[in-house]
Amino acid sequence: MLTLDQATIQFGGLTAVDHVSFTVEKGQIFGVIGPNGAGKTTLFNLVSGVHKLTSGSIRFLDKEISGLEPYRIAESGIARTYQNINLFSNLSVLENVKIGRHIQSRSGLAAAIFRTPAQRREEAAIQDKCMELLTFMGLESKADLPAKNLSYGEQRRLEIARAMASEPQLLLLDEPAAGMNSTEKVELTEMIRNIRNMGITILLVEHDMKLVMKVTDLITVLNFGKMIALDTPQKVQNNPEVISAYLGGGIDA
Ligand SMILES: Nc1ncnc2c1ncn2[C@@H]1O[C@H](COP(=O)(O)OP(=O)(O)OP(=O)(O)O)[C@@H](O)[C@H]1O
Ligand SMILES: [Mg+2]
Repeated sequence: MLTLDQATIQFGGLTAVDHVSFTVEKGQIFGVIGPNGAGKTTLFNLVSGVHKLTSGSIRFLDKEISGLEPYRIAESGIARTYQNINLFSNLSVLENVKIGRHIQSRSGLAAAIFRTPAQRREEAAIQDKCMELLTFMGLESKADLPAKNLSYGEQRRLEIARAMASEPQLLLLDEPAAGMNSTEKVELTEMIRNIRNMGITILLVEHDMKLVMKVTDLITVLNFGKMIALDTPQKVQNNPEVISAYLGGGIDA
């Protein structure tokens, strides 16, 4: 589904992502872990088109996507959430999800102004679909609240609902558990599995190792922009280089 081949980006003298190569297969939950500043978010920025590669390639569904504008990449079926929550805080929870859906909307501006029957039908369908996603993420009772009234953990779930509204084939989650309490993390683990069971492939950046080890099929480990491991969760946990670069004292079970 997604193949990075020697993907590299330099910011001035710093190589933030350094010749990274891996393939994510359809239906996988693929983890990307590593210490602060390792290049995980930058990797997401490359895949989603926020940054352009210095060298190398990124292919999605057999098409080169590096160099495409972010909206083109979104249209091709990739959606993401943000490490720094990126919601419209004064808009309602439902409106935030609708914004994510917009990319799939067919009606043009004229139709939106004159409200043709087709446009009204489409709007009703969008409303239903977005409410379904809010239910899926456990936020249906909050649909009409301003996004800023949600707890931190709820805002992270709303980010996921919004990303899913574009009906992506590949979903990039950047630290979805950050700021969540342990109950929320358990719920999130289940939600991530359910998203995969809907047929969506997931790339997951996360520092909560308990969560990562529970949900991922494969993990790559970055350190100073370089890939130091690509393996199953079990093997990554026991990899001496990974332990010394990142895991240190181990994972609290
Ligand atoms: N736009 C940018 N311009 C210059 N340097 C950048 C830019 N974006 C990221 N960097 C640098 O690239 C490196 C990787 O940063 P990145 O945010 O990808 O790390 P990360 O693995 O996501 O870390 P964290 O776990 O803290 O989120 C860091 O040294 C960072 O300062
Ligand atoms: Mg990051």
